[in-house]
Amino acid sequence: MSLEFPKGFLWGISMAAFQYEMGASREAVDPNSDWYVWLHDRRNVERGVVSGDVPEDGPGYWDLYRVDHRWAQWLGLNAWRMNPEWSRIFPRSTKSVKVSVDRDEEGVKAVDVTEEALRQLDELANQEAVKRYREIFEDIKCRGMKLIINLYHWPLPIWLHDPIRVRDTNAREGPRGWLDEDAIVEFAKFAAYVAWKFGDLADMWSTMNEPNVTWSIGYTGGNFPPGLNDYKLSYRAARNIVQAHARAYDQIKEVVGREAQVGVIYAVTPAEPLSDDDREAAERANEVMTHWFFKAITEGRLSVLGIGEERREDLRDRVDWIGVNYYSRLVVRASERAPGFEVVSGYGFACKPSSKSLANRPTSEVGWEIYPEGMRSAINMCKRYGRPMMVTENGVADAADRLRHWYIVSHLHQLLKAIKVDGADVRGYLHWSLIDNLEWASGFKPKFGLIYVDLKTKERYPRPSAYVYRDIVSQNALPEYLLEYARYPNILAPP
Ligand code: BGC
Repeated sequence: MSLEFPKGFLWGISMAAFQYEMGASREAVDPNSDWYVWLHDRRNVERGVVSGDVPEDGPGYWDLYRVDHRWAQWLGLNAWRMNPEWSRIFPRSTKSVKVSVDRDEEGVKAVDVTEEALRQLDELANQEAVKRYREIFEDIKCRGMKLIINLYHWPLPIWLHDPIRVRDTNAREGPRGWLDEDAIVEFAKFAAYVAWKFGDLADMWSTMNEPNVTWSIGYTGGNFPPGLNDYKLSYRAARNIVQAHARAYDQIKEVVGREAQVGVIYAVTPAEPLSDDDREAAERANEVMTHWFFKAITEGRLSVLGIGEERREDLRDRVDWIGVNYYSRLVVRASERAPGFEVVSGYGFACKPSSKSLANRPTSEVGWEIYPEGMRSAINMCKRYGRPMMVTENGVADAADRLRHWYIVSHLHQLLKAIKVDGADVRGYLHWSLIDNLEWASGFKPKFGLIYVDLKTKERYPRPSAYVYRDIVSQNALPEYLLEYARYPNILAPP
């Protein structure tokens, strides 16, 4: 197998506004999102639901974006993915802007955002923020990088989602975010507005980052807002989110033109069976965790868990490219209880931090097993949908930079196999992350950066693995001398 990547392959990084922007000035603080409130909530801190770290101590990209763009240039990157924060652009509600909505008992089928509505949205928007995002995007472009604008990377404006109230009333009182169909309509307005304002700058679009993480961790006992534990609510959020994706897709096409490339970025976690007897359980897990969503937005088949399926023409063919975020796998076994499988501890995402998995693989500082073969499986799982793909996130929490070079090379080697052996159409790789960032409820402790950030001084220092990534990027290939790292060592026995 040749070790070269296809010509024109995109090499970049991904980032999310909330995890990077705040930290270097008072003006950078955006207190208007559910995540901001969630991380500051006393009860959450006391109960250990969140770390107590707050975004205003972050790396300060809002002010230091030029510095980070220069680091990206130093790495030789030609692609940058980020999101303009919804709550920053619309700190106040957009509900007063009237749009016509085609809605029936199945859901929100179409939203019409007129020119007049866009002008009204412009009056409500925080123009300072709009101006700054334009400067940021222009700076990315003028350094020769393709700009991939993603619309939603988890925070919702507080006027749309009050996570504390939702948590404390068990979702009886709101605003309830993705639990209500209003969120679909407001997201469509936001999409239309961002497309209208930045359509001239984006090379590619994505509606959302890892919608599956929002509806799973937030509603099935995890530490994301609103911290509920109720499968019915999770399904309800998922159903609204899949519609929100489709309505945002429509808006970008409408405003920018049919030629706009609109995709979605998904956390693709392959489920593998513990033994042969668990094969069906693994298939079911992949169905529920991944294919459910893609069947809806490619074929218009919306499966209603455990009940049947709805045909939804308004969801069909609503994706031009697929962003695959891959970090690790899950190993599952059959279970009598719904949904028919259970996760086996000791593998994949269910391991102890900085230890080894039951397969003798090292685990990261957040306890994720390093399992590069899963990269190839994740890509192959999405290949069946016949769209071009891009790896939109992949990386490791590793402050000491002990594992990152292995991680990068071994995962890219599997990515090459997916392209060259399996014929997958993968057009780029975006590493997570360029610099250390706020890791949501876990705070600043997990370090995902190719570049270390001193949070006190905001200075940036490249870790050794940044040079490895840089060499790969500059050759558009895995250099021979790095191939040693393509195979993960069995940590109990030397090679
Ligand atoms: C998310 C990022 C996050 C990364 C590492 C992905 O699930 O999109 O926001 O920082 O994983 O946990």
